[in-house]
Amino acid sequence: MGIIIKTPDEIARMRIACRLASEVLDYITPFVKPGVTTEELDRLCHEYMVEEQGCVPAPLHYAPPGYTPYPKSICTSINHQVCHGIPGPKALKRGDIVNLDITVIKDGFHGDTSRMFIVGDEGSILAKRLCQITYECLWLGIEKVKPGAQLGDIGHAIQQYAENAGFSVVQEFCGHGIGRKFHEEPQVVHFGIPGTGVRLREGMIFTIEPMINAGKAAISPLPDGWTIVTKDRSLSAQWEHTLLVTADGVEVLTVSAGSPARPASIATAKEIIVPTFA
Ligand code: MF3
Ligand code: CO
Ligand code: CO
Repeated sequence: MGIIIKTPDEIARMRIACRLASEVLDYITPFVKPGVTTEELDRLCHEYMVEEQGCVPAPLHYAPPGYTPYPKSICTSINHQVCHGIPGPKALKRGDIVNLDITVIKDGFHGDTSRMFIVGDEGSILAKRLCQITYECLWLGIEKVKPGAQLGDIGHAIQQYAENAGFSVVQEFCGHGIGRKFHEEPQVVHFGIPGTGVRLREGMIFTIEPMINAGKAAISPLPDGWTIVTKDRSLSAQWEHTLLVTADGVEVLTVSAGSPARPASIATAKEIIVPTFA
């Protein structure tokens, strides 16, 4: 199949799906508090996507080869959970860190984004630093995106920054092309060598979604068939945006009124298009 270059019409529809995915995160933010269960967050997001947005939650019953159908509408990965955490009856506690990963389908197109939340706004110094460094990793990757750049440029920027901070990069899961399908080519790994890998072209749309561990990079699957945890049970964080390669750079598609600001520490000479919703 190869990498699908999106047409202007497809890009317009991706912009909408991606904004809606980000708006689900805006909507759920005030509910992410000590005592709430991840099942409740899933229920609220499901209702919002279906009733308010007219979207289909892409994770629900998603079953790639070798997987059992995913049972819920969002992913909720807490503390040492790396990704694909299944919402359940456990309540969030003050100081937990949790990733909420939202993928909606609107008008046939997927928008995919995730953010970290520090429950009760009282994380440990390590937890806060891990979430911040991981957010900066995402944006360092975004900054590399432009026609002619290569995927290895993105992976290298992320890996170098994470490892310099004393953290490690999960290697088994990666970003991905996205469009009519949830996961398309190419695979966007979060490590690598500059000047290697697929060359970016205008009209490509893909995610960057680094998973960064406070301890070692190794992961293990849980018996539920989906949840991935750090093997050493160290904390793990992840942030995700869906991106469009433009004629001269990048447009961040998964943005909405409540999107966290781009990290102040990432100095950039280049203009990055981030639509604003004043
Ligand atoms: N949203 C995840 C990603 O960023 C994929 C989740 S698959 C699911 O690629 F089935 F667990 F939802
Ligand atoms: Co994704
Ligand atoms: Co996602």
